[in-house]
Amino acid sequence: MQTYKRQAVPMTWDFPESNVFAVSAICWKNAVKYSADNLEATGRLTCGYGFAKQSDAATQKMSADKIISTDPPYYDNIGYADLSDFFYVWLRRSLKSVFPDLFATVAVPKAEELVATPYRHGSKEKAEAFFLEGMTQAMHRLAEQAHSAFPVTIYYAFKQSESDGVDGNASTGWDTFLDAVIRAGFAISGTWPIRTELANKVSGIGHNMLASSIILVCRKRSTDALTATRGDFVTALKSELPAALAYLQRGNIAPVDLAQAAIGPGMAIYTRYSKVLDAEGKPLSVRDALTLINQTLDEALTEQEGDFDEDSRWALAWFEQSGFAEGEYGVAETLSKAKNTSVSGMVEAGILASKGGKVRLLRPNELKADWDPAEDKRLTAWEVLHQLIRALEGTGEGAVAALVAKLGSKAEAARELAYRLYMLCERKKRAAEALSYNGLVQSWPEICRLAGETDKPKPHRDRPLPGQE
Ligand SMILES: C[S@@+](CC[C@H](N)C(=O)[O-])C[C@H]1O[C@@H](n2cnc3c(N)ncnc32)[C@H](O)[C@@H]1O
Repeated sequence: MQTYKRQAVPMTWDFPESNVFAVSAICWKNAVKYSADNLEATGRLTCGYGFAKQSDAATQKMSADKIISTDPPYYDNIGYADLSDFFYVWLRRSLKSVFPDLFATVAVPKAEELVATPYRHGSKEKAEAFFLEGMTQAMHRLAEQAHSAFPVTIYYAFKQSESDGVDGNASTGWDTFLDAVIRAGFAISGTWPIRTELANKVSGIGHNMLASSIILVCRKRSTDALTATRGDFVTALKSELPAALAYLQRGNIAPVDLAQAAIGPGMAIYTRYSKVLDAEGKPLSVRDALTLINQTLDEALTEQEGDFDEDSRWALAWFEQSGFAEGEYGVAETLSKAKNTSVSGMVEAGILASKGGKVRLLRPNELKADWDPAEDKRLTAWEVLHQLIRALEGTGEGAVAALVAKLGSKAEAARELAYRLYMLCERKKRAAEALSYNGLVQSWPEICRLAGETDKPKPHRDRPLPGQE
């Protein structure tokens, strides 16, 4: 049975073996089935043949004039070589005579592995320098050898985490990797979010995991690219990123992946120039460029707030400060004046509780369960979104679909609001709420499909079915 549920060999505190007699996902029967399925599927392959060759990415020659799609190691995420030893020592015993070159060494070769592990290189700084240098060399090999008519596509599914950037915005893994790609002479012409992970692996928050893989589409940077100032770069970001963001949202990208996916259009602007110079005439680093991209993304999402009704704009501002916790009535009242609404109106609308000088937003599970949008006289995007979450988490996609069918185009504003709230929760480290907003957007295609079925006229009972007249 699968040895690695995670890419690590943890201590198992209960049973070291899966239960031979159990009928569950982890059982003897499935262990045999999974292996058999693989053999069977491999046997069915008729579309040409596969070819495997091992080579160090930093020095290889095999990619010359090829179309390249590559899945490189993610900074310090996984120690593949160490983990491989677990299997290697056994495979070597049985297969050394068949593949003498492959099993020449006692353990898996580690020195060339492109991974930023301090224990192998002596310190965090040395590990980072090793990764940057090696990855730049590897990318260089690709950039100079790849077939010039096709872009090189690079899988990068490592989530930028907010905690390890000095400014809280860019992560070492991402900026070191992008730095290597750009230094190697590539320009980034876009990003494609592609769903590659099993649904049971998607946990998104707190696990440095994405719902999709982000594919960077790269081409060789043109030699006559112009130099730009930081101001030019920011102006281009502000004019181009909102449209790119709207495009990604139309494609229903999971909110958890939005910031990664926006790196593509942002970096496309950055790498359009040979250099971006700051006020002192020094080149703007990839890290600074990423910070500016994240800021512009945040601004673009904030600008979308203009599309929401007054109550929702009030709720957004309140939620940013207090979440679902209580706050002072006076503060709520002042904010409501600024947003052109009123506390009493929102209490009436069913999104707010106001008692004893305190005010708080109602959580989804506190909202009216028999809510009917057709009867609602003060329908707001905020209420719609949280009602949909209540229905999704309480009953499931079918219940949400029934509401969406009644709401028609009004449901769309709720989906937009979910993106905004997800980003806000991620920044404020409100993981539980973030999961709810992400979950709703991820279920959206299925909800719309079910809502479409609700809309279709049902076959009439009295009418005979075709062929039964
Ligand atoms: C993200 S994984 C690829 C996983 C693969 N796509 C799969 O689905 O199994 C990155 C791979 O790069 C390999 N790698 C690390 N350093 C390398 C180097 N210098 N040359 C070639 N491959 C290297 C790692 O051993 C690892 O297998």
